[in-house]
Amino acid sequence: MSENEVMKGKTVLITGATSGIGFATAKELARMGASVVLVGRNLEKCVSASAQITQITGNAQVEYILADLSTRNGVQSVAQKFLSRHSRLDVLLNNAGVFLMSREVTVDGFEMTFALNHLGYFYLTYLLLDTLKETGMSRVVNVSSDAHRGSKLDFQDLQGESNYTGFGAYGKSKFANVLFTYELSRKLIGTQVTANALHPGFVASEFGKNNGGFLRFAMKLMKPFQKTIEQGASTSIYLASSPSMSAVTGKYFADSKEVKSDPLTYDQSAAELLWQKSLEMLVLK
Ligand SMILES: NC(=O)c1ccc[n+]([C@@H]2O[C@H](COP(=O)([O-])OP(=O)(O)OC[C@H]3O[C@@H](n4cnc5c(N)ncnc54)[C@H](OP(=O)(O)O)[C@@H]3O)[C@@H](O)[C@H]2O)c1
Repeated sequence: MSENEVMKGKTVLITGATSGIGFATAKELARMGASVVLVGRNLEKCVSASAQITQITGNAQVEYILADLSTRNGVQSVAQKFLSRHSRLDVLLNNAGVFLMSREVTVDGFEMTFALNHLGYFYLTYLLLDTLKETGMSRVVNVSSDAHRGSKLDFQDLQGESNYTGFGAYGKSKFANVLFTYELSRKLIGTQVTANALHPGFVASEFGKNNGGFLRFAMKLMKPFQKTIEQGASTSIYLASSPSMSAVTGKYFADSKEVKSDPLTYDQSAAELLWQKSLEMLVLK
């Protein structure tokens, strides 16, 4: 099978696909023949991203679901809409993320970075797990970051109520992505569903530019040291599509190679506790 056909017949759901790494990943997977469902929170961007992908790749099987993934209702509506239109899910790509210098709170009362970057990944995966299992050989790909290194979760203060910093909250949320991925892979033993996490690199996307002039300016200065968006998408594309990844699970990747994540992410009791706390926060069993 040529590279152009490797995703033919496969359905991919990708969050945060209206810009940056998510958009570039969706475009490439559509080029490889996948039926691609983009999730975004801005209608104009959703319409434009799906039209662009179809125009560039010639693949008409590109659609979108509009939702705010930082809220419980938003995640539920994505799962409901997806399941009303599709009976299989080959790849769930959790990618939507945010960095916030100042603490914000969602309509559900959760700190925004934790809500979108961790609970959004956790809840969407939870709601689509049966479909992933029924599909057979399917994959969950979680976009984390090397910003998780040196971080750890404070289970007494998962909502960052004391001493919030943007970098601290972001590092913790990306640490949670790795813990969640490893715990998910353990829970999926005996199924054909894999779960892996990745660091895309330091990428010249729109990321962090919602934080005003200073960060925008700093990012501009760093541009020569950043990967292009296409380079940043390459590990996501690899984990989502490479035949060599079909049975690899519970690993962390950078530059399409398996690497060790922070030593503390291998703490199984912390991963179990995060799972349990996440269920409780979302009022799930
Ligand atoms: N860029 C980097 O250097 C870097 C490094 C390491 C890890 N990462 C990770 O890579 C992932 C993608 O980041 P990126 O660099 O591509 O950033 P980006 O260009 O800012 O894209 C983020 C995407 O997430 C969407 N999004 C944000 N909040 C949302 C919400 N509440 N509901 C639904 N969608 C929402 C955005 O939609 P809008 O367009 O409407 O805002 C956008 O499509 C993130 O998980 C990030 O943590 C990035």
